[in-house]
Amino acid sequence: MRRLLVVLSNIIRLPKRFFSKVSILALLSDSQVDETAAICAGARFYRSRLGRYSYVGRTTFITNTNIGNFCSIAGGCNIGGTGHPLHWVSTSSVFHKWDNILKKHFARHEYDIFQQTTIGNDVWIATNAMIKAGLTIGDGAVIGMGAVVTKDVGPYEIWAGNPARLIRKRFDDETIARLLKTRWWDWPDEKISRYGAVTTDVEKFLEKWEKEEGKKKGKKEAKK
Ligand SMILES: CC(C)(COP(=O)(O)OP(=O)(O)OC[C@H]1O[C@@H](n2cnc3c(N)ncnc32)[C@H](O)[C@@H]1OP(=O)(O)O)[C@@H](O)C(=O)NCCC(=O)NCCS
Repeated sequence: MRRLLVVLSNIIRLPKRFFSKVSILALLSDSQVDETAAICAGARFYRSRLGRYSYVGRTTFITNTNIGNFCSIAGGCNIGGTGHPLHWVSTSSVFHKWDNILKKHFARHEYDIFQQTTIGNDVWIATNAMIKAGLTIGDGAVIGMGAVVTKDVGPYEIWAGNPARLIRKRFDDETIARLLKTRWWDWPDEKISRYGAVTTDVEKFLEKWEKEEGKKKGKKEAKK
């Protein structure tokens, strides 16, 4: 029944999809997608939020996940997902209260199958990566193709493999701290465009921002 409702609610919204970046062949349920964000064909996006200028690739499956701005999520990924009880007699879904594909219940015990997963801003998740439910992936992080991520990933860290391990960080710690301070992914479009020319040079980008911030601070102090 629930599946039917999801399909129906997607069909009702089809006309709107023609004017958005969400494919008519993607399935969405109880989710929030920014108008600048995109979701490709075959993706399923349930009980999740997709931030500004972020995208989700073909056939990727995401549930209960809060995704920030400017994230690139490739095809074939699996993020979040529901859990099964490990400490009961059985892990089968036929013993808890939630609907299951077997359409059978021997009991309806309380069980929290959903765990919230958090993906920060400017995160790149490459093809076929899997991220366990409940984890936090920090701003600027990279998850390699085919990774199986079972632990939290810090800001600007690159993780890959099965189980995924830290390969290296994108930048040194001082640069990471400076980048995090900018929170550039929350800036208005006009400001990001203004910095467009220096986005290939992290040092120049940071110097420009720090100079502007310094000026702003100086003006504020002068007013006091
Ligand atoms: C994770 C990634 C970004 C790292 O790139 P990189 O910094 O150039 O990494 P390197 O090739 O220098 O590899 C560094 C080490 O990590 C390992 N490694 C890199 N990617 C890996 C992966 N996906 N899985 C397992 N190990 C990986 C390398 O074997 C190497 O190991 P070593 O130090 O023992 O020799 C890249 O390998 C990757 O997965 N790219 C995704 C490409 C993709 O899927 N594109 C389409 C979607 S947009």
